[in-house]
Order: sequence, then C-alpha cells, then structure tokens
Amino acid sequence: MRFGHFDDSAREYVITTPRTPYPWINYLGSESFFGLISHMGGGYCFYRDARLRRLTRYRYNSVPNEQGGRFFYIHENGEYWTPTFAPVKTELDSFECRHGLGYTRITGSRKGIEAELLYLVPRGFNAEVHQVTLRNKSNTPRTLKLFSFVEFCLWNAHDDATNLQRNLSTGEVEVVGSTIYHKTEYRERRNHFAFYHVNAPVAGFDTDRESFIGLYNHLGEPEVVQRGVPKNTVAHGWAPIGSHCLEVTLAPGAERKFVFLLGYVENPPAEKWSKPGVIEKRRATAMIEQFSKPEQVESALQTLRQHWTELLGRYSVKSPDEKLNRMVNIWNPYQCVVTFHMSRSASYFETGIGRGMGFRDSNQDLLGFVHLLPELARQRIIDIASTQFPDGSAYHQYQPLTKRGNNDIGSGFNDDPLWLILGVAAYIKETGDYAILDESVPFDNDENNRAPLMEHLTRSFEHVLNNIGPHGLPLIGRADWNDCLNLNCFSETPDESYQTTGNRVGRTAESVFIAGMFCHIGPEYAALCERRGDADRAQRARREIAKMEKIVLEHGWDGDWFLRAYDFFGNKVGSKECEDGKIFIEPQGYCVMAGIGKESGHAARALDAVKERLDTPYGIVLVNPAYTRYQVELGEISSYPPGYKENAGIFCHNNPWIMIAETVLRRPERAFEYYKKITPAYIEDISEVHKMEPYVYSQMIAGKDAVKPGEAKNSWLTRTAAWNFVAVSQHLLGVRPHYDGLVVDPCLPAEVPQFSITRWCRGTTYVINVKNSGKGGAPKLVVDGKPVAGNLVPYGKPGATIQVECSV
Ligand code: BGC
Repeated sequence: MRFGHFDDSAREYVITTPRTPYPWINYLGSESFFGLISHMGGGYCFYRDARLRRLTRYRYNSVPNEQGGRFFYIHENGEYWTPTFAPVKTELDSFECRHGLGYTRITGSRKGIEAELLYLVPRGFNAEVHQVTLRNKSNTPRTLKLFSFVEFCLWNAHDDATNLQRNLSTGEVEVVGSTIYHKTEYRERRNHFAFYHVNAPVAGFDTDRESFIGLYNHLGEPEVVQRGVPKNTVAHGWAPIGSHCLEVTLAPGAERKFVFLLGYVENPPAEKWSKPGVIEKRRATAMIEQFSKPEQVESALQTLRQHWTELLGRYSVKSPDEKLNRMVNIWNPYQCVVTFHMSRSASYFETGIGRGMGFRDSNQDLLGFVHLLPELARQRIIDIASTQFPDGSAYHQYQPLTKRGNNDIGSGFNDDPLWLILGVAAYIKETGDYAILDESVPFDNDENNRAPLMEHLTRSFEHVLNNIGPHGLPLIGRADWNDCLNLNCFSETPDESYQTTGNRVGRTAESVFIAGMFCHIGPEYAALCERRGDADRAQRARREIAKMEKIVLEHGWDGDWFLRAYDFFGNKVGSKECEDGKIFIEPQGYCVMAGIGKESGHAARALDAVKERLDTPYGIVLVNPAYTRYQVELGEISSYPPGYKENAGIFCHNNPWIMIAETVLRRPERAFEYYKKITPAYIEDISEVHKMEPYVYSQMIAGKDAVKPGEAKNSWLTRTAAWNFVAVSQHLLGVRPHYDGLVVDPCLPAEVPQFSITRWCRGTTYVINVKNSGKGGAPKLVVDGKPVAGNLVPYGKPGATIQVECSV
C-alpha cells in the first residue's frame, strides 16, 4: 500500500494522506541552519549543532507523536483547524505534502479555504522561511484569523529537557511590532538570540505557552485559538513561545501570502545591546528585509532548486528502470548530503543530544557525497583526522560545534583508523588533490603535536599491525563496525554501556572483519605511498596485506563461509560450531570485496552461504540464527530480541557490501536482486509494512526472526545511503573514479538492457552509453571513437566532454 507517489520531474515525493505509518520527514538547510520537518509540519530547527543551539522545542517519543513544530491555526467563526492536519486533527477536504530537495510544501483545505505552507531555509541564510498562502476557493467573502506557533527551546536541548529547576525561571523575550525575539540567557554568556517575524501588521501575539495553550490543554486545542483572541502575553520564565495573530479578509477567489521568518542571530559581544536590557537588532532587521516579499521567497526557492540541479548533474543515469533512475538521480544523493550534514545527530530516531559525529560514520558518509561537495569533504577529513590519537587509534565520536573528540565514549574501536584511509583515498580519486596528504593535522587536537595527513594514514595502517591477536588477526578492541559485538565487555550490570565497559583486559578477541577491511583498504594506503614515491613502504604494506590474506584463509575460514571473530577465550564467533550466530554478513561482504578467496572459490562459497542462510524477501539479515539468549561474552548483540538491530535484523548498511562482493564475482543478477530488496523506491508498494519514508533508506529492517519482518526503523541518518550509492553508482552501473582515470565496469543483469550515464569528474564530463548483455563479462570500451583496452578511461581535460561507448 502507498501513501503517496513520486513526482520525478519536480524531484518531490508527494504524500497524499496525513495518516502515514510514521511521520515522514524532510530536512531544510544545507549550510549552517537546519530544520527537520515532518509531513505535518512537526520537527524543530537548530543552528549548526542540534544539541547546543536548538531554536525550537520538540518532544521525542511523545504522545501523540508530533509534539513540536511550526504550526499554523486557522480560526473562523468559533471553529479552528490546522492545514497540516496535526495538531488539531480536524478532517480536511484535501491534504498534500510535497517533500522536495531542501524544502517542503504542505497544502490543506477545508470548507473552501486552502492554506499552502512552504517551508525552506534559503541558501546562505540562517533562518527558516515559512510562507503561508491563504486562498478563498468559496463563493462568499471570508474573514479568518491566522495564528502562528513555535515553542522555543532554551538553546541546549539536553539541559532544556532535564534541568527544569533552573530553566523554568530563565525564559525571556522581547516583542517589537511583528517580531518576537527569544533572548533566554542573552543577559549572560550567550551572544545569540532567535527571532520569529511576519511581514504584516499583527492583531496581537503571545509568547507565554501556558497563556496561549492553557495549562491543561494540548497543542490541538490552544485556548487562544479556541477563543480566536490573542492575549498579548510577554513570557517571564516558564516556557516562551512565539505566536502571531493575523486578521485576514478574503474575497471569493482571492489569496494572500504571508512570509514568516524564524531566524538565528549572533552579535559580537561589544554590540550585544542597543540599550541596557534591549538586544541590538540590526542584524535581525537586515535579515527581515531580505525576506519581506513573496518574490524574494520564490527567488530563494529557485536558487535552491538550481543548487540541486547543479549537484545532481554530477552523476545521473537514464535507464528503462524509473525506480533506478529516481534513486540514483535524486533521492540517494540527497540522503547522502543530508547524512553528511547531520551525521548521526538529528533525525526522528536520533534525538540531537546524543552521538555527535562518528569517526567511522563520517569517513564512510563521505563516500556518498565526495563527488558532490569535494571542498566540504576535504574539511571533514581534516576535522576527523584531528581527533586521531598519536598511536593511530581514534576517538569514536566528536562534537560538531567544538570538533573535539568525545571523552564519554573515548576510543578503542579498532576498525576506526582504517576508515580514515578509505575516506582520504575516495577524496583523492575524486579530486586528484594529493596536496591534502601534506596538510599538517594535529593529533587529538593538540596544536603541539601535528603531522602531515599522510602520516596519520600511516599510523592508521600501523595501528592494525600493532594490535594483532593470537591467530595473527587484528584485535577487535571495544567493537569493530558492529558496535554491538563487544568481546571484551562482559557486562552483568544494566546501567553500564556495552561500548565503554571493558571488564576483562586481554589481547585475545580478534576480528576477521577488520582483517577483511585491512585487505580491502590497505591497498589504497599502498597506492598512496607509491604515488608519493615511497616504494619501500608500499611494498611492505603489500607484503603485510598478502600475509593477512593468508591468515584469513587459514584461521578466518569456517568451511563454507568466513568466521566473524574469535572471542576473549579464543572461541569462534560466527561458526557452524556455534549454537546461535553461526554466520555473519560482515566478513562475507568485506573479505570478498577485498578479493580474498576469489580464485580459490572460497569467495563464491561464502556468498552462496549468504544467499542460503541470510537472504530474506526484505533484504539480508546480519546474522543467523539470531541469538536467543543474552551471552555475556558477546555483549550487546545478544541483548536484542531476535530479528532486531544487530541481532539478525536487516542492517541495510552492510547489504551493499554483499552487492559489491557479487559484482567482484561478476554475478549481476544477485547483486541487483539484493539492491532492489532494500532500495526504498522498489518497496514503496509495501509502505504499510515498511513504515518508513519510501524515498530514503532506513538503518534497519526487521529480519525474518522478528515479530514484524519487513518493518523498518531509523530512517535517514545511516551509512546505508552512502554505501548503496557506492554500490549502485560505482559497481552496478559501474562508473567510479580511480587515481588515473574513470573506471567503467558495469555489472547489471539483462533486465536493464541499456542505459547511459553522465558523470562529471575533475572538471570533465563523461557521457557513457552502455549496451548490457547482463552476462557480467568484461566491458569493451570505445572512448571518443577509439577502442581502449581494459576498463579505464583516462582523465580528460577540464571543460571537455568525453564520449564513451561500452558493451558488456
Ligand atoms: C553506528 C555505526 C555502527 C552500526 C552497526 C550504527 O548505529 O552508527 O557506527 O557501525 O550501528 O553496529
């Protein structure tokens, strides 16, 4: 069942009922100011950091779901409703929400009045614009009152939700004309404030929540809206809000537009006040002038669209499969960019007060957006590398505002260092910017301890070799990619974190997955050494990789598939000898991606075992059989009920590793089958089962052992987006940048018989037409009319267009 449809020409998903199986959200903002917005106008906004600079309040996991948003109430003759359906929930005559790239348009109508709400954050602007268009579609003149509503968060979202003894006394506002200024804590150390403005004279306003809503009422029945009369309240403490009241008269067929701005301003400390106690408002006024007319909003929307047209033009496909086209051309790169900005901080599942940026997460996110935003990728790499320790290990997370490593979680996740090599290699292949390797980057943000980025990569590589266990495999540390496989944790106390508790000190627990990573990512390190003229290091690296490959086949092979790990006691994890958890997805994907056992047949056997034991109609589960009881020596993985999250859920993020692995073995049918199983556009028809947005990937879909197989959770902020983009664009469609040219190496089944790809890379445009037999053989290339051997199209001149004919 569907709850809407794709509008590809507008690059929008159109939701046609407010009753979606879960709030389906979108993101506003692409630089410093961001908002999350659901199809009902719910959500919140923040400046840079969802925890430390949150402008509006949102109550997670609340009842009903949408507790916080930018809501507009329409009052007419004692009746009131909200065009977004929530929070009043009066039945509407029509409802439509269009989520576009960086904007959302929600239109609701009732009894001849139509309200269209356009929400966006203009480029280069630190505010949300809410444009409200009211139309009288009836035959009689209508007189309405429009009430806006936002609830301010007292900046630090964690403190805001927990430190009530203080912050119920700190709230402060100023109201001048049609602008409400939120200035809590401005009197002391904060030099920033928020403002909520409308470009028309108001009939009144409210800034005190209790007066507006009523202590025992809810957002769906605010007292002021019920009565249709604002109270002009000025908040002192308690909960400051912003609400304007506008009186609107509309002749039949007439329409009126109002532009609301919800903005963020920082003043230099010396210019905080215009007089004692009164904030200096020049910067806010200047912002207001930029958006005082609907034409300015329209032009900002066009600029935003243009921005996306340019970005998305860098990789596009035309094929007979419209679902493939819409994912590759629109939604998958869009999600990658959102994930780049948000990391794991703010979604409807990540509360914005938790995890900040992950070291491994951010490095892998980069794979999905580096072709779109290479300059930002460069900065991100430097930020990430600055949180690395001198021994090559790394903080597992860091805060976006301070860019400092997060001490609460610390380090010890032994896969982390290798992801930095992968991220840097992807950046260099895309841009050719080898100079980044010479950038001087601190360790642990210590200005007195800096080294060129290349040295950081060396420490990453060496970190693996310095931490080898009894079988010669890499030690796992607190966990590897699988944050929930905690082989040194042994936690018996509910109040401990699985990730930070290490109750047994030992150097025995080893990860076959990290070994696979080492063999897949290590060659990139060797290639970079070589390109910098360090042949000795490159050779040594290759020797170590070859050695590791042998060790994997000797100690990491279980007979029919790759083992997952050895635990603290040296027992096998992910082996046929185990009672539960006999086979894991991660090492099958990563070892085959590295080419381990490709010639000997081990690789094919491993992938066949995946098909047989892990594949389901909804995707590939992480492990099988699911753990049925808590196993202290394995940690968090066995804490989940069977079928969820790491305990045999379909952790979508590692599915593309199997897709890529299948292309390594040139098996296009299976690769594409796996792709279609988890890719949102292909499962739109089962939205009632899947529940999450049909335009973006979710982190997890419940597996075959779950009570509700196929039900997804944790949409939006997941490396699933980046890795699926890598899988489909670089390995299925097969176009990927290499150090010296663009590889063209498609591996798709015959159901996509021909397609063409336009790829912009290093200033050159490549137009690649593919005739596809679906047999998975080696491609034959003709470049600008001349046949070339192999699958590499050498980089052309910036500004040139290169024509590639490929048959495969
Ligand atoms: C984390 C990742 C981790 C994955 C699997 C995600 O929630 O952000 O870093 O690799 O879970 O455990």
